[in-house]
Amino acid sequence: MAKLGIGVVGVGEMGKRHAENLRRLVPEARLVAIADVAPGRAQQMAAELEIEKYFSNIEEMLACKEIDAVLIAVPDKFHARVVEAAAAAGKDILCEKPLATNRADAQKALNAVANAGVRLQVGFMRRYDPAYAAAMKRIDAGEIGDPVLFKSLGRDRDVPPLSAYQSNINGMLFYTNTIHDFDLARWLMHDEVVEVQTYATVAIRPELAQYGDEGAGVVNLKFAHGAIGSVDSYAQAIYAYDVRTEIVGSKGSIFIGIIDKTPVAFLSAAGGSSVLEDHFLSRFADAYLAEVRDFVHNMLHDRPPRVTGEDGMRALEIAIAAEESHVQGGVRAVA
Ligand SMILES: NC(=O)c1ccc[n+]([C@@H]2O[C@H](COP(=O)([O-])OP(=O)(O)OC[C@H]3O[C@@H](n4cnc5c(N)ncnc54)[C@H](O)[C@@H]3O)[C@@H](O)[C@H]2O)c1
Repeated sequence: MAKLGIGVVGVGEMGKRHAENLRRLVPEARLVAIADVAPGRAQQMAAELEIEKYFSNIEEMLACKEIDAVLIAVPDKFHARVVEAAAAAGKDILCEKPLATNRADAQKALNAVANAGVRLQVGFMRRYDPAYAAAMKRIDAGEIGDPVLFKSLGRDRDVPPLSAYQSNINGMLFYTNTIHDFDLARWLMHDEVVEVQTYATVAIRPELAQYGDEGAGVVNLKFAHGAIGSVDSYAQAIYAYDVRTEIVGSKGSIFIGIIDKTPVAFLSAAGGSSVLEDHFLSRFADAYLAEVRDFVHNMLHDRPPRVTGEDGMRALEIAIAAEESHVQGGVRAVA
């Protein structure tokens, strides 16, 4: 059976899961090598996954002829330059979100991909989650009629250590977290976000202000064809990893996430009246696996990726406008 040779760049929390999936659960893939700049990290992962090749230098890994495609899971700020390097080496690419943390880098990455004639998928794995996929099917079947309201919330449970902000290598709240909801907004509504208005706060963690980041944010959305919506994001919801989305249409509503008949729910770190997920790796386990399976299958059979570089750029543009609205105030057009 033909297999797609894959190299994974960056095997921290997310890259490790992707590498494990590719090694053990994707029959059409052959995990050829792992690269990570942290001393010993690639070697340790290679030993755990029983593969021979590991590198601390990406260029060396990209020179491997058996590698057809590269999965990129380095911190956000390095995505674009690794995409460029992988494209120049002629590899197809699955890059974690966000595509980049600014428009210029994202455009350079897209140009490199186009010039090299390779394919790029961006890691919006929620599109592969069984619940979101089922919702999409119903929307496409016209079951809720014309979508008019989009509401989504994304709350991470773990309080990121201040070092995560100090290192300045990850995107800020809207770029690294809310970007998933911005992608869902475009995808589920079959529409583009044209305007945003943001309120964001560091009220519960004032130290974040010195890094220019936010602890929580609400972004109102206006879509091109008349629909409206909002996204709320929170970086330290200690009670759970809480992700929910609702799309309301002219004939009904679809709700993804917890919903029950309890009129009031109390949720805290010590427990709550609902059982919720505690981490993205468990909540979206199926989605991460389906995402890499689909990418591998499409690359192997010469098909376009399901989530494109253009999707990565559009979501990034919403994040940039949301950030601008927070900093400068007022309504911002999405460029
Ligand atoms: N899709 C999702 O739900 C999801 C969830 C978590 C993280 N992510 C994304 O995955 C990426 C990685 O996040 P993480 O939480 O695993 O981070 P992490 O810090 O745990 O891991 C990053 C790894 O990349 C390595 N690295 C850094 N620079 C490198 C370089 N230039 N070349 C090679 N390796 C390099 C680091 O040594 C580290 O091992 C981020 O872009 C993040 O936004 C996505």
